[in-house]
Amino acid sequence: MAEFLPYGRQTIEDDDVAAVAEALRADYLTTGPRVEAFEAAFAETVGARYAVACSSGTAALHLAMLALDLKPGEVAIAPAITFAATANCVRYQGAEVVFADVDPDTGLMTPDTFQAALGRLDGRRLAAVLPVHLAGATVDLPGVKRLAGAAPLVEDACHALGTTMSFGNIAEQVGDGRHGAMACFSFHPVKTITTAEGGMVTTNDAGLAERLRLFRSHGIVRDPTQFRDPPTAPEPWLYEMQTLGYNYRLPDVLCALGLSQLAKLPRFARRRRELTIRYWTLLARLSPTVRAIAPPGSCDPAYHLFIVLIDFEAAGRTRAEVMAGLAARGIGSQVHYIPVPRQPYYRERYGDLDLPGADAYYARCLSLPLYPGMADGDPERVVEALSEVLNLG
Ligand SMILES: Cc1ncc(COP(=O)(O)O)c(C=O)c1O
Repeated sequence: MAEFLPYGRQTIEDDDVAAVAEALRADYLTTGPRVEAFEAAFAETVGARYAVACSSGTAALHLAMLALDLKPGEVAIAPAITFAATANCVRYQGAEVVFADVDPDTGLMTPDTFQAALGRLDGRRLAAVLPVHLAGATVDLPGVKRLAGAAPLVEDACHALGTTMSFGNIAEQVGDGRHGAMACFSFHPVKTITTAEGGMVTTNDAGLAERLRLFRSHGIVRDPTQFRDPPTAPEPWLYEMQTLGYNYRLPDVLCALGLSQLAKLPRFARRRRELTIRYWTLLARLSPTVRAIAPPGSCDPAYHLFIVLIDFEAAGRTRAEVMAGLAARGIGSQVHYIPVPRQPYYRERYGDLDLPGADAYYARCLSLPLYPGMADGDPERVVEALSEVLNLG
């Protein structure tokens, strides 16, 4: 049988392995020179002034909430269609999540769905907004920002490394800080580049960057010029814990992998675009039962996932049957995402929210294989299998 195609997977090459091996033989496994080198290269890649590496995308989101000093009694708005971590980072701080609905055909929060969520603040202070660039397609950031007032935007860009956007005539990289106070990235294996586990926060604000670094490492300061209680005579062993922080550091060894992978981002993104365009052409014959999601015209995504919308009812097949049929033909698929407010934790906290866009999107979405290592003929194999399983042949 042909090789199994998962819905996503990492691309690790010999030079990635060599970079990690070299770091393993070096002096520092944890905080070493590759951390700053990865941060500098990443900041340059996305066009931000600062990049702070951390242990996961979830840690990146939590650090961003810590840097903003999000507190109990405050509220953040996040879309209903995303991974749980986008909302969980708000709850880590004891603040509450107001879930915005999404466009049923893209899964993205829009200025309209954001505006409706603003109507559910019930007098509480909006302290942050978390737009999610789903599958690499970007939220209308200027549109959301116009409505957000003083509340900062923290972009969940975990899917969007390598995506460019253009609002008006200006082309910009996701994470360059033109609209968002901070942007959070993940380097989980299915993401555009990987460090196994890993994340990054980008910002153009020096004060936020300093707070991100402080919370990343136990709230500890080592530079004596920053001490609250400087010693009268030198005490070289001293450090100060100035706030309650975490160990969210990304080790030197994994930053070596990140540096090596980052150099490949243009190639990986190009390959994802090529495969996506191939899928679009092939899927035309399964329309209207199967529809590829068109990204907003304002962005050129690096396509983290390839999500299609399937009218399962019209096809007379359940999603479980379709996934099983694909798996039997050696093809992995996944669902991105179950609406987060439908998870028991959030349902018990906020009740059954009225989110028709998210429910309509969730009823139809299915992610098909997409990763740079796919062969040229693989999209054809996937679409052929899908057409068989849906009986559209
Ligand atoms: C949209 C989104 N946000 C946050 C995360 C969390 O990232 P990580 O798995 O690196 O903690 C992920 C990754 O799974 C994600 O897809």
